[in-house]
Amino acid sequence: MPLVIAMDGPSGSGKSSASKGVARALGLRYLDTGAMYRAMTWWMLRAGVPVEDAAEVAARAGDPKIESGTDPGAPTISVDGTDVSGPIRTREVTNAVSAVSSVPAVRERLVALQREIIGAGGIVVEGRDIGTVVAPGAEVKVYLTASEAVRAARRALELASDQTGDQAADQAATVTVTQAEQARRDRIDSTRAASPLAKAGDAIEIDSSELTLDEVIGAVLRLAEERRTND
Ligand code: DC
Repeated sequence: MPLVIAMDGPSGSGKSSASKGVARALGLRYLDTGAMYRAMTWWMLRAGVPVEDAAEVAARAGDPKIESGTDPGAPTISVDGTDVSGPIRTREVTNAVSAVSSVPAVRERLVALQREIIGAGGIVVEGRDIGTVVAPGAEVKVYLTASEAVRAARRALELASDQTGDQAADQAATVTVTQAEQARRDRIDSTRAASPLAKAGDAIEIDSSELTLDEVIGAVLRLAEERRTND
């Protein structure tokens, strides 16, 4: 029976790197559901839809064609045939994505797409509601956390690595701003009415604050192995 590994947790917990690493180690596919919410948000912004207007967002939620490639070595995301891997990581999209992803019609559409991609399994899926809503039957459920400070530092580093120029001096300020923006996003993501970020009752929590990426991957691989031997 092909495996489904659900990886949930807040932003900056290290989900993406860990999920890709686990998928590569086990020869599984990989799905980044956050990228799908970002792609939907990118499309709404480009279409001029006011993202705080939930009724308008809901009315347009069926319009963009969103496609995800599931190779963990080179995941792709496109909207209406255009590769949007870069544009979905901009600050503009990041700051609008919580509003768009809190709209139930958006979630219904994307959850249906996600379940289609998951299909019979053989996949690592990362997001906020994978173990609770998208794939409640997943054999392995991980809830990855890290302290707020560690998560903000990781996000700031990611942002800085995308930019050029003398970043060092800006680093402290970037961390502070990132921490505030991220706290706001996490608050919306975990308090929204429609499938908020939550740890599934049967998920195993891993705190990655003091762990290296390889240690996190190793911990998830051990869980997957235990599952296999217990079945
Ligand atoms: O993982 P990320 O930062 O790329 O996710 C972007 C946003 O998408 C995040 O703020 C919350 C939302 N999201 C969601 O609501 N449900 C998911 N399964 C994945 C992401």
